[in-house]
Amino acid sequence: MHPCRLVLMVAVVATARGDRYHDQRGPAAAAPSSRAIPPSEEEFAASYWYAEAFDAIEARLSPPAYDSVARNVVMFLGDGLSVPTLAPARTLRGQRQGRSGEEERLFFERFPVTGLAKTYCLDAQVPDSACTATAYLCGVKVNRGTLGLSGDVPRWDCPASTDRATHLESIAAWALADGRSAGIVTTTRVTHASPAGAYARAANRGWENDGQVLAAGYDPAVCPDIADQLINSSPGNQFKVILGGGRREFRPNTTSDEEGTAGRRWDGRDLIEEWRARRAAAGVSHAYVWNRTELLRAVEDPPEYLLGLFEATHLQYEAEVRAAQADEPSLADLTEAAIRVLSRNPRGFFLFVEGGRIDHAHHDNRPHLALDETLALDDAVERAALLLPPASSLLVLTADHSHVMAFNGYSWRGNDILGPSDVVGDDGVPYMTLSYTNGPGYRAHQNNRRVDVTQDNNFQALRWRTHVDVPLDSETHGGDDVAVFARGPQQQLFTGLYEQSQLPHLMAHAACLGPAAALRAECSAPAPAPSTGAAAPPAAAGVALLLAAALFRLL
Ligand SMILES: *[C@@H]1O[C@H](CO)[C@@H](O)[C@H](O)[C@H]1NC(C)=O
Ligand SMILES: *[C@@H]1O[C@H](CO)[C@@H](O)[C@H](O)[C@H]1NC(C)=O
Ligand SMILES: [Zn+2]
Repeated sequence: MHPCRLVLMVAVVATARGDRYHDQRGPAAAAPSSRAIPPSEEEFAASYWYAEAFDAIEARLSPPAYDSVARNVVMFLGDGLSVPTLAPARTLRGQRQGRSGEEERLFFERFPVTGLAKTYCLDAQVPDSACTATAYLCGVKVNRGTLGLSGDVPRWDCPASTDRATHLESIAAWALADGRSAGIVTTTRVTHASPAGAYARAANRGWENDGQVLAAGYDPAVCPDIADQLINSSPGNQFKVILGGGRREFRPNTTSDEEGTAGRRWDGRDLIEEWRARRAAAGVSHAYVWNRTELLRAVEDPPEYLLGLFEATHLQYEAEVRAAQADEPSLADLTEAAIRVLSRNPRGFFLFVEGGRIDHAHHDNRPHLALDETLALDDAVERAALLLPPASSLLVLTADHSHVMAFNGYSWRGNDILGPSDVVGDDGVPYMTLSYTNGPGYRAHQNNRRVDVTQDNNFQALRWRTHVDVPLDSETHGGDDVAVFARGPQQQLFTGLYEQSQLPHLMAHAACLGPAAALRAECSAPAPAPSTGAAAPPAAAGVALLLAAALFRLL
């Protein structure tokens, strides 16, 4: 159609209906549903919004100066924490407190600096959690499904991964090389893709135990499984803290664990015992725990090494742990325990904390659980911030990739975020404020009509599934950008829109670690003695870093 005729048509329709794109409600449309919580009275005054903006300007004009070198770095990763998950999560928290909700701010949303990261991988338009973990922990974009190996290694190619020139180093290894401590915390198996990015080199993320390597036709002596690498290879074997799930990857398939689940190893080894034996032989304090009670007891007087595996596979969803009153730690509990142990080192630490099940809830089309897990991650960030002052500690929160949940419709303010949109489809059938473009939970049309999912009447249940467009066993990731939030030394580095693989270099630059430290003059100067009175780093550290940077370029 000729563009002028199109414009004319739109103009005619617009006269009749107002704006056909945005006025679906019209003046006669229904009032807000009785469920909707109205905004607070003060919001009706223009002065309220002026004051809100002026406060923000003041805060931005006089940012606190955190120009020191970060002693500690904590990276929080919301697996699958897409930007469209943020607004519904904060709205849910506000609504749980009896407010309209949209005005709520998550704790990490108050961080002074925000950026956006591009998540594609070397061979993938829409990425997975392995190549993205390699990007945000090792600083290099690589092939989908691979961990800690350069783009020269195709997925599944064990022989290619034995070439040491393909091996990447993570920011956890950079921290250890500088005499700092390192640790990982996750709500998934500790051998799952995201945390494995901190320590593993694997041509396939699925090689979590030796049985998986054998099943792919390879020799675990040539391509060691991920659990074995965590316990026995550098840098995992130096981690002071390992907290999460996944006991089954560490135990022989002839034994069952503390809660009765069989191990999955074929080699007959018990890696948890190997971990304990090594610490005992070295005469260092250490604890292995598998429930919350024992975790809290262990960190009353923090040991030097802490291993906690609280499930045979992933941890349970926090909302379900609360409902069942299970003796399982929250992500905030785990984060606090990790910080207590790592803080024994006056030179500082790098800690990776993952809210890993936001992703699982999205894949399974369980929006309520995805939002609740996001709030659990936010609680963990708040707990860390209480323990770590911003002048010494850089806190960064981001996601690995997006998902395909949309927040849609023209609902009134305060509409139940888990409920239907105020308006119905042109077919007269309601639709939900949150839904997915694909995934499980597809309802086939009946008599040529969409199914009215609101007839379910239990859409606030934790495991209720919303409607989807395309039936798929597992909802897919999304390819859009993810948000980055930062607070602490060098926080300004995190503004803008950039490649995800920049993230570890930005964090390392702020903390004088790894190759990017060579770009910062202060990193070669002897660091001022920390307030705890620990020794300054050796003067050779700067030279070593320059050498490391040169070597890194050669790789
Ligand atoms: C357990 O490991 C043995 C090898 O030690 C293997 O033959 C067997 O198939 C494994 N069982 C399962 C259920 O994987
Ligand atoms: C927690 O672990 C300890 C140590 O193994 C054990 O004695 C205790 O029974 C466990 N608690 C629960 C509730 O399972
Ligand atoms: Zn996923």
